[in-house]
Amino acid sequence: MRSVAVGLSIGLFCAMLPIPLQMLIAAVCCFIGRGNIPIAIAACWVSNPFTQILLMLFQERVGAKIRGILDLGWLDFIDIDGTVPFIKEDLNLANFAVGVGATAIFLGIMAYPIIFCFYTIVPKKYLQGVAILKRKIPVISLTTTPMKKIPTEVFEDKQAAVNKLAAETAELIRSNDAVAKITVLGLATGSSPIDYYKSLIHLHNTDGLSFQNVITFNLDEYAGLDREHPESYWHFMHQNLFNHIDIKPENINLPSGMIGEAEIPAHCAQYEQDIKDAGGIDLQILGIGRTGHIGFNEPGSPKDSLTRAIELNPITREDAAPSFGGIDKVPTTAITMGCGTILAAKRIVLMAWGTGKASIVNEAVTGPVNDIVSASYLQDHPNASFYIDKEAAGDLE
Ligand code: F6R
Repeated sequence: MRSVAVGLSIGLFCAMLPIPLQMLIAAVCCFIGRGNIPIAIAACWVSNPFTQILLMLFQERVGAKIRGILDLGWLDFIDIDGTVPFIKEDLNLANFAVGVGATAIFLGIMAYPIIFCFYTIVPKKYLQGVAILKRKIPVISLTTTPMKKIPTEVFEDKQAAVNKLAAETAELIRSNDAVAKITVLGLATGSSPIDYYKSLIHLHNTDGLSFQNVITFNLDEYAGLDREHPESYWHFMHQNLFNHIDIKPENINLPSGMIGEAEIPAHCAQYEQDIKDAGGIDLQILGIGRTGHIGFNEPGSPKDSLTRAIELNPITREDAAPSFGGIDKVPTTAITMGCGTILAAKRIVLMAWGTGKASIVNEAVTGPVNDIVSASYLQDHPNASFYIDKEAAGDLE
């Protein structure tokens, strides 16, 4: 439906261009904007007689104005008056010729600003055709290289990335241990950090990395799930990390999914206070959802938001549906650290793997900072990085 609408608008617009260029420009615009090319061409041709007449009249009027200002006597040899068929409007050939020339010069001068605005305003996901075009015809460079506004390390594969992050974590814990300081880790659930947790467990087992002086705070928990529920984040963290390392149970913190509605604000305020009392988060681990969420900060989450209850976006629930055995079983709300809570961490690393994350990673790293993609707030953090694999970097070029 979207491609038909895009094709239709492109076709109607291109019908106003000079005839020899119409089809070519309509096809290129459709390819770039993912519009339906046959619809665009049909719309172009059907509307052509009307749009061309309108364009002709417009150009003739502009030409007349220009001839009124400039002395273009050498054009007098085509100073011939006629009448436009169907609408019976007067048209002067010399005026028309001047109007066509002026339009061409104007479009020539404006081409770069128009293309620049087009690529700035239109969201990158609608410009996927450009990437394909650039790959196929490398000589043509239609876009400017996206500006990476968050330091982004692209790794050969996921394992290389998690090894580096685990080594960075071990270094942090050991250097704090050396000065008898507690290390505070902010942890995430989901598929992205699983291999990172495996690497930490490996370092614990083979390299003596101890978590005795580590306090953890998890980003979020589903509302309505008790700790033993197989899909609760409490359960996930114990299965994937806590049961395999020497962390003290009293140092493990997750929001509770079983708090009564009236108690939620106090529970969230206490969670914030507990983070502050621990000295703030030294290293915050993040994944990114298809909605651009970090934690469960869905689109619309303010930059300074704190731990709170949040309604899950339908896309997030859809993504969780397979593990819950159906979307009906996925909770509709959760408790999440806020964007402000996350941004207060001293160091932040966001992990993303696979082509499924490529488009949202690109939006977060190169797009505008706004509440539509809460991960974009990381652009304003002084020490945030993205660790991603080649596939997740696919749209970054
Ligand atoms: C998990 C969390 C979420 C996930 C995100 C990505 O605690 O807060 O933000 O990090 O939904 O999930 P995966 O890694 O499963 O793609």
